[in-house]
Amino acid sequence: MQYNRTGKWGLKLPAVSLGLWHNFGGVDVFENGRAMLRRAFDMGITHFDLANNYGPPPGSAEENFGKYMQQDFRPYRDELIISTKAGYLMWPGPYGEWGSRKYLISSLDQSLKRMGLEYVDIFYSHRPDPDTPLEETMMALDQAVRSGKALYAGISNYPADMTREASKILKLLGTPCLIHQPKYSMFERWIEDGLLDVLEEEGIGCIPFSPLAQGLLTDRYLNGIPEGSRASKSWGFLKPEQVGPAIEKVRKLNEIAVSRGQSLAQMALAWVLKDHRITSVLIGASSVRQLEDNVAALEKLAFSDEELEMIRNILE
Ligand SMILES: NC(=O)c1ccc[n+]([C@@H]2O[C@H](COP(=O)([O-])OP(=O)(O)OC[C@H]3O[C@@H](n4cnc5c(N)ncnc54)[C@H](OP(=O)(O)O)[C@@H]3O)[C@@H](O)[C@H]2O)c1
Repeated sequence: MQYNRTGKWGLKLPAVSLGLWHNFGGVDVFENGRAMLRRAFDMGITHFDLANNYGPPPGSAEENFGKYMQQDFRPYRDELIISTKAGYLMWPGPYGEWGSRKYLISSLDQSLKRMGLEYVDIFYSHRPDPDTPLEETMMALDQAVRSGKALYAGISNYPADMTREASKILKLLGTPCLIHQPKYSMFERWIEDGLLDVLEEEGIGCIPFSPLAQGLLTDRYLNGIPEGSRASKSWGFLKPEQVGPAIEKVRKLNEIAVSRGQSLAQMALAWVLKDHRITSVLIGASSVRQLEDNVAALEKLAFSDEELEMIRNILE
């Protein structure tokens, strides 16, 4: 595994990190999740990413993770970076979502209980709240760190201008922003338009989620929607109607990947990692085989100018 510094900070993250959004919830096969986490750690993936609402049902990924910790990872707590988040709907009433201090701190307490942890390494504000002053949300992150419930603070899905503002507030509070978690892949490139520049200026790391566009940027859907795939599941966030319109580009990208001697998944991850401002790619997986395929992306990260030009043409 390759480890990269998170922005300008001391913390290093593996170039490939594993998220528990899908395939680790109450609806999934417990032993499959366990096998993936064990294999991931053995390959040097020291960072597991969660959120209060991962499941389904919401909370069940953290509950399962608590069991995996208990069974397998307790002796390795100091070798692990575990993150969680609060921002999306988690419980009824006015305190169960968005960005108030009440919600963030209560949610973090619940997450720690579900996972059986004393602290998380990174606590994120999962999404910006248009109706709560940014100061309040950032004060909650600062409080989480100062109280010892989190080691670092992060933000996710914040646009460039709000990121700059959040960073300013967090610096004043004395708990600087460690990392930003945005959606980024060959199919979703908004962060190139300002956010990456802000992150570099502020010394904040970047861990893009869904670098495989939830599986679209792999060979998974080349021949239709297979049984058991994310797009085939009623609770999957990838909808079947998203597959068709993407597939022509996927086929062309796959040809370039083959000519590079890589799987499309590997090329898609290498493409995200080619920017020096990217700390780690935050992948999902449904099997040990996918995990191994993805980590092997690190064996070939470089692109020729010609390859980049061909990819650019396909994406446009
Ligand atoms: N901050 C946020 O708002 C936010 C939002 C979304 C996600 N996230 C984080 O980002 C993590 C990753 O998101 P994601 O799961 O959407 O990432 P992704 O890596 O884009 O997609 C993962 C899916 O792609 C397929 N796949 C992975 N490797 C493959 C391979 N080698 N060959 C073929 N198919 C492969 C699998 O689909 P199948 O299941 O069909 O096999 C897998 O479940 C999440 O777990 C979560 O931690 C954060």
